[in-house]
Amino acid sequence: METGQIAIGADHGGFALKQYIIERLSVEGFDFKDFGTFSGESVDYPDFIHPVAASVNQGIHKRGIVICGSGQGANMTANKYPEVRSALLWDIEQTKLTRMHNDANIIALPGRFIDFALAVEMVKVFMQTEFEGGRHIRRIEKMKNIL
Ligand code: RB5
Repeated sequence: METGQIAIGADHGGFALKQYIIERLSVEGFDFKDFGTFSGESVDYPDFIHPVAASVNQGIHKRGIVICGSGQGANMTANKYPEVRSALLWDIEQTKLTRMHNDANIIALPGRFIDFALAVEMVKVFMQTEFEGGRHIRRIEKMKNIL
């Protein structure tokens, strides 16, 4: 179980889900650093995803959550950072697997295409599932070997 503060950021397409996650999980003891956005007004998702990804990349936060309408732009932006492994997720099983095998440190969520209650359960699983290590360490290290 990862217990540290969670970095979270979203654009207008992810704003409602971000608020829901913070509200639901804060009462269960999870702690969030909210990088915005802070309303449903239209914004550019990289402006709110970069701070989350930079914080995880620098090791200030061990885990992050990024949300936009589709999850795609948020995920792409987060994965620009060398120490970030961001996974675009939509179900519990994928969430478990990407923690166990890929040591994903950011979860990207599609705010317009996911049930909010399911997303909350996925975040819990994301925080609770340990990396398996072993052969997967070699594989995630090889991700850096771009040609
Ligand atoms: C905003 O309308 C939308 O493009 C954004 O939330 C996201 O889906 C981009 O990938």
